Amino acid sequence: MASSKRDPRRVPSPPRRAPRGKAAPPPRADPFDDAVLYDWEYRRRRDDVRFYGTLADERGGPILDLGCGTGRLMVPLLRAGHVVVGVDRAPAMLARAEARVRRLAPRVQRRAVLLRGDLRRLPVRRRFLFAVAAFHTIQHLATDRELTQFFAGVARTLLPGGWFAFDTFAPNRRFLERAGAPRDRRWARTRFRHPTTGRQTEYAENYRLAGRLLTTTFHYRTVGSRQRTTGVELEHRLLGPDEIRRLLAGTGLSVIATWGGFDWSPLDDRTEQHVYLLRRGKPDRGAGKPAQKIG
Ligand SMILES: C[S@@+](CC[C@H](N)C(=O)[O-])C[C@H]1O[C@@H](n2cnc3c(N)ncnc32)[C@H](O)[C@@H]1O
Repeated sequence: MASSKRDPRRVPSPPRRAPRGKAAPPPRADPFDDAVLYDWEYRRRRDDVRFYGTLADERGGPILDLGCGTGRLMVPLLRAGHVVVGVDRAPAMLARAEARVRRLAPRVQRRAVLLRGDLRRLPVRRRFLFAVAAFHTIQHLATDRELTQFFAGVARTLLPGGWFAFDTFAPNRRFLERAGAPRDRRWARTRFRHPTTGRQTEYAENYRLAGRLLTTTFHYRTVGSRQRTTGVELEHRLLGPDEIRRLLAGTGLSVIATWGGFDWSPLDDRTEQHVYLLRRGKPDRGAGKPAQKIG
């Protein structure tokens, strides 16, 4: 396994000074700084791993895992016998992926490569039969330009007949109404034992929508401590099926199937989880479609 430019150290943010007469803003952090918390929060998210595993087995590798994060998907793909190259830009996520890969048997480790890099300028030369960007990863690319750059880059990394699968979060109207609520309104309030500190921690989230950019702020506060709430902001570009088809024009990729979830159900107006399967080249009426459970 190889890893380029690894730097798992967390860079502390400079202390924020409050403008005179005002309270200091709550401390902020990057959403992908805390890879241990990420894995803990999504430890029960398994449907997508099974779903992409099925597609991967059907198309075969080598596989490119785009925005591989902590290896949540990469490791099961490796265990299933595939060669997998994972790319991510977050040092903490990559460090955790690397630690996970190191725990695998040496013969499995040899099929893994981890690269630090940006999805808009993919740091890979080899070609793949299957590329995947799991868990809303493409929505971190905010502009049309970034997305078309990314799609064109993925097309260049695919072998003839290669597939690219990804999913998006498509919030319904009720969810989006929350984004218009007052800023101090919070949802999904809960308490949990923090996997790193072991301390009881309060959690809540709120949302803001500016154009097509949805910002979710995750609020964490250690119970019984004087520490202020930490707000972690995550931005997602909202993307619908028509928009995705428009952005794909001229990139060398075309849609061959869509689903409304990881249960292979059809995509419609009500589904909040959209899944896309693309192929390199133009669609050619069924050729290259997966055999699996397609309606
Ligand atoms: C929601 S996480 C998904 C991680 C993993 N695919 C999974 O399913 O658990 C999104 C990942 O994309 C990475 N990411 C976001 N924008 C990126 C970019 N421009 N270049 C490389 N990685 C990026 C983040 O660092 C993060 O690890």
